[in-house]
Amino acid sequence: MRKAYAVLAWIIAGAVVVQAAAIAFGLSGLISWVQDGGVLDKAVLESGEVSFAGVLGFVVHSLNGQFLIPLVTLALLGVSFGVRGRRPRVLAAVLVVLVAAQVTLGLTAPAAPYLGILHGANALAILLVAVAAARLVRPARAPAGAATTGVPAAGSAPRAEQPRGT
Ligand code: HEM
Repeated sequence: MRKAYAVLAWIIAGAVVVQAAAIAFGLSGLISWVQDGGVLDKAVLESGEVSFAGVLGFVVHSLNGQFLIPLVTLALLGVSFGVRGRRPRVLAAVLVVLVAAQVTLGLTAPAAPYLGILHGANALAILLVAVAAARLVRPARAPAGAATTGVPAAGSAPRAEQPRGT
């Protein structure tokens, strides 16, 4: 369960990086298309017929943001109940709240562009909490020398408490 928890948390962290890359790809392509004479207005947007290098970035961002990330985050919360300790559950619950806010901000930002500022900043919070969650359950490293002798090396301090899972 600890392994599954760590893998899911790393997937969320990686997905945030994909989100940033996808939206940068999409916006770069859109700006380039406009510079080449493309005109974007409501009718063109709603026609769904716009095509430029980078349009896939918007599609990836939308699908990843509305489906993949929320599903993986809910899976992380479910798996957290099989991991010993309170902190894995708390971090998973925090991620559920942050991701719910992120999706809401993403969907409402076109109506209130200033929400886009929160959308970008909140993505970094999701990344940090996901990395903290993944590192929380990493296996304790054996002290130097313990692998061969089974005895902790002189002067090595015991690690801080690690949540143990099943
Ligand atoms: C956990 C990370 C993220 C999630 C879950 C997420 C989710 C979403 C969602 C659901 C939308 C609406 C898409 C649509 O209407 O089809 C959206 C739009 C947007 N997001 Fe994100 N996003 C994330 C990260 C980011 C990051 C890191 C950036 C940029 C730094 C960003 C920038 C934008 C922009 C500019 C839009 C408006 C353009 C569009 O609708 O495609 N997002 N996001």
